[in-house]
Amino acid sequence: MKETQLWINGKWEEAMESYELQSPYSGEVIAKVAKATPADVHRAIEGAHKAFQSFKKTTAYERAEILYHVVEILRRRREELADILALEAGKPITASLGELDRTIATYQFAAEEAKQVHGVTVPMDAAPGVTDRIGWTKRVPLGVVSAITPFNFPFNLVAHKLGPAFAVGNTVVLKPATQTPLSSIIMAEIFKEAGLPDGALQIVTGSGSELSEELVTNPTVKKVTFTGSSAVGLKIKEQVGLRKITLELGSNAGLIVEPSVPIDKIIGRCVNGAFSFAGQVCISLQRIFVHESIYEEFTKAFVAETEKLKVGDPLDPSTDVSAMINPKEVARITEWIEEAKVQGAVVKTGGTFTERTLTPTVMTNVKSDMKVVCQEVFAPILSIVSYETFDKAIDLLNESDLGLNAGIFTNKLDDAMRAADELEAGAVIINDIPTFRTDNMPYGGVKMSGYGREGIKFAVEGMTDLKFITVKTVI
Ligand code: SIN
Repeated sequence: MKETQLWINGKWEEAMESYELQSPYSGEVIAKVAKATPADVHRAIEGAHKAFQSFKKTTAYERAEILYHVVEILRRRREELADILALEAGKPITASLGELDRTIATYQFAAEEAKQVHGVTVPMDAAPGVTDRIGWTKRVPLGVVSAITPFNFPFNLVAHKLGPAFAVGNTVVLKPATQTPLSSIIMAEIFKEAGLPDGALQIVTGSGSELSEELVTNPTVKKVTFTGSSAVGLKIKEQVGLRKITLELGSNAGLIVEPSVPIDKIIGRCVNGAFSFAGQVCISLQRIFVHESIYEEFTKAFVAETEKLKVGDPLDPSTDVSAMINPKEVARITEWIEEAKVQGAVVKTGGTFTERTLTPTVMTNVKSDMKVVCQEVFAPILSIVSYETFDKAIDLLNESDLGLNAGIFTNKLDDAMRAADELEAGAVIINDIPTFRTDNMPYGGVKMSGYGREGIKFAVEGMTDLKFITVKTVI
């Protein structure tokens, strides 16, 4: 069995304690993982600070070369890494390979962006009475970045933090999710091979709020970037004070389906958006608002398509949906389903569970204050709601404390443009599901869904400070 260590200052270090990592699908123990202490995290931060003193002086060309080298290694090891991801996260192998492809694209975008970071010139003589001065801005790295990442995209969401941080010359202390440390541990090896200097990436694995506390409150840390729940994000926001922060939090993503849309052309896509990786995706489709004139037909087609999904072993290429991340999550979500049923919701399909899996579940007759609707389910559950007017559809979708991506299918340009203006979300996806994301687009939420943006070019803004320089050309 694999036994892991902490990655500090370019060396593997034994930890005082370890924990057993179980496969989400089989429950089998797949690794013994090093458990860092707050003192280990403190040392990792000090080491990253030391490494920053030289890493900040590297050229854009050198940093881009490291990132291009990472891309090359990932391409070479794609299948092997996808197997590890499927095993530790319970992500079906086809989706795991898809995540690896996106990870490669993310590091490629980061490599390209490393060469594009630039400032602007400021026309100093536009101010009254100013002559003989030139002025310009430049973007400078911040220093040590604490990155706290979730279990659902253990390669790609880590890439969204490491890629832009290294592109601009920051160093990073990474705390991967307790359930998915193996993919990050491999990234340590890959970055070492790619030529990243020792100490620029530190990896502290483990669990417990004391680790996050040190990562967030240590004054040497200049930026915290976190992906996870709104509750934890809010707590981190309160702790960081004036230091920089990016929070990518949850959502209960909604989609409006207008009557003009051919149902057969969109149904497969909607089912995929709702149940891919068992709904454990921040922009998983959770609520569909369908015009009353096509509600029955849409619901019937959606249920039929959902029932084709195969629940099973993540390593089997024919599996569509596998285990939830742990049995506690299955217990939580089955309680939410039962509660909704008592409040009048109807389960059209699914709702059956084992210790580790929940069958894709479609609900109707839901109300907006039911947990399965108003909170982030992070599970394979989708609700379908009928609406009478477009105004009502917009209101229903906006009736949420969350707002990451929102979607609309329509062939009416004016409705599409109204949705773009009026849907309360970080992104409005027209004629596709809200689960759509490419790794170069700005990504982040409004309301309780986040703060700041990821998507390499946009993340770079949050990973740098803007510095202004002016020269008086005649003394
Ligand atoms: C997330 O779950 O936050 C990321 C979704 C994605 O990158 O597709």
